[in-house]
Amino acid sequence: MKKIVVLTGAGISAESGISTFRDSDGLWEQYRVEDVATPEGYAKDKALVLDFYNQRRRQLATVKPNEGHRQLVRLEEFYDVQIVTQNVDNLHEQAGSKNVLHLHGELTKARSERDSNLIVDIGYSDIHLGDKAPDGTQLRPHIVWFGEAVPNIEPAAQLCEVCDYFIVVGTSMNVYPAAGLIHYVPRTSPCYLVDPKAVTVSRNITVIQEKAGTGVKKVVDELIELAKK
Ligand code: OAD
Repeated sequence: MKKIVVLTGAGISAESGISTFRDSDGLWEQYRVEDVATPEGYAKDKALVLDFYNQRRRQLATVKPNEGHRQLVRLEEFYDVQIVTQNVDNLHEQAGSKNVLHLHGELTKARSERDSNLIVDIGYSDIHLGDKAPDGTQLRPHIVWFGEAVPNIEPAAQLCEVCDYFIVVGTSMNVYPAAGLIHYVPRTSPCYLVDPKAVTVSRNITVIQEKAGTGVKKVVDELIELAKK
């Protein structure tokens, strides 16, 4: 089977009711990114940051995957599909995608403040001040904040290096290293981009300027036709 890598961002979850990051004046659900998505913000006010992610997690418990997530699952009958997502929600998994690599962490997990490899599943529960990881340190959200390392970027780059097709859905391609993954894709592998806004990408790419709910289906239909030939 040929290999497809799909890089997704906040836009694929927009039609499920989750806000994107850069479509509302640089604020994320009324908070400044520096306050809630940096180690400095966490050091300054842990309670505020824990509460912020508790709210995101509670919201996640109430939303469902949309047509964009679901269409990607159809590809698995014909291709070896790997989703690489910048999203911290679990909507790809809920839709049924088998291989999902999270670059920026996962809301339904928490980790030790001291050991980033000590990760625990918390489902949709809140994290409170005083909740401890198995090593006795405060639990923090399993989220990659700005200024922190992105451990999954290496396996993601390796997947991109050998993919036959690359699909980008709903990301402004503003945040590195995720936005740089496209440069690992072989020049001979066709790339597609689904986004209602014009997104600048410095390589030859087929653009479907539509929302994920309709745009992803067009790419998926085309790739399934190609696989059947
Ligand atoms: P952005 O908010 O930067 O970009 C969202 C993209 O989705 C934009 O290009 C929108 O035009 C597009 N979009 C909006 N509605 C859409 C829809 N219905 N269908 C398809 N696309 C739509 O979000 P990301 O690129 O994901 O990091 O942001 C990257 C990272 O920056 C995030 O993972 C997060 C953030 O700060 C961390 O939290 C570490």
